[in-house]
Amino acid sequence: MELTEEINRLKAERQAIIVAHNYQVDDVQEIADYTGDSYFLSKICAKNEAKTIVFCGVRFMAESAKLLSPEKTVLLPEATAGCPMADSMTPEDVIRLKNEHPKAAVVCYINSTVDVKAECDVCCTSSNALKVIHSLKEEEVIFIPDPNLGDYVSKQVPEKKFYFFNGPCVTHSRVSIEEIKKARKLSPGAPIAVHPECPPEVVAAADYVGSTSGIVDFCRNSDAKCIVIGTEMGILYQLKKDCPDKEFRLLTPRLLCVNMKKTSLESVYHALRDNKTQIEINSTAADKARLSLERMLRA
Ligand code: 13P
Ligand code: SF4
Repeated sequence: MELTEEINRLKAERQAIIVAHNYQVDDVQEIADYTGDSYFLSKICAKNEAKTIVFCGVRFMAESAKLLSPEKTVLLPEATAGCPMADSMTPEDVIRLKNEHPKAAVVCYINSTVDVKAECDVCCTSSNALKVIHSLKEEEVIFIPDPNLGDYVSKQVPEKKFYFFNGPCVTHSRVSIEEIKKARKLSPGAPIAVHPECPPEVVAAADYVGSTSGIVDFCRNSDAKCIVIGTEMGILYQLKKDCPDKEFRLLTPRLLCVNMKKTSLESVYHALRDNKTQIEINSTAADKARLSLERMLRA
């Protein structure tokens, strides 16, 4: 309680807002001004008047906030909170794919580094990937780094030819089709809602596929009393808060992203008190990366 009061005092002093991804631990989501998926949070950060943004999430999210609002101070409370998917791809990998497929537009999932974004035409998130791809005039698309999200969207745009990179999410890749079959037996009649970062066979067998906020909306609007969830377990906080009368069952207890769990109330407090860890993007690629994000917001 004392820590919460201190955080709120420092927040007012620094004219700060706290934004938290849907996977953050419960008490961090509780104290946040905004919680949501990557797309919602990037829009909030781009529009907000606050001087400081405390980004409770992983590095690529805080970097995207800084790219969209370079004049603001963006703090990542846990400096080592990264995303293995984002770190799986280098700009050289993108250049190689571009050389192999020179006519293709390059669509880059927001889960990527600044230097990778700079090599791409447009960014997307799991909630707007389809819209972004439909907005392209090119008939060929290089979709990076997540082959699972890429597979999911490409099946809905059969008129375009897709090329992928092999950088799936370590957390969502753990979900297996056997776990879907098991859930169907254990929870008969319960809809299964999964994130498109899950493997294609899991996505194909699910009843709903969407971003983390898409899953929250699906559960809010569903008449089902019990819903099986196939995304990182942090989402259960928002689901239980929004739908106290529904039961949520996680597809597998292995749906845990260690990086999303690094941030605590203590780290939020230290971030505000010591103004750390500030996101600085000195890379010469920053302007190009910003363009990819801005094109996404306009798509
Ligand atoms: P969302 O944009 O759906 O919140 O997903 C972000 C993410 O990292 C999923 O693993
Ligand atoms: Fe990255 Fe996967 Fe964690 Fe999302 S859940 S932040 S894609 S490692």
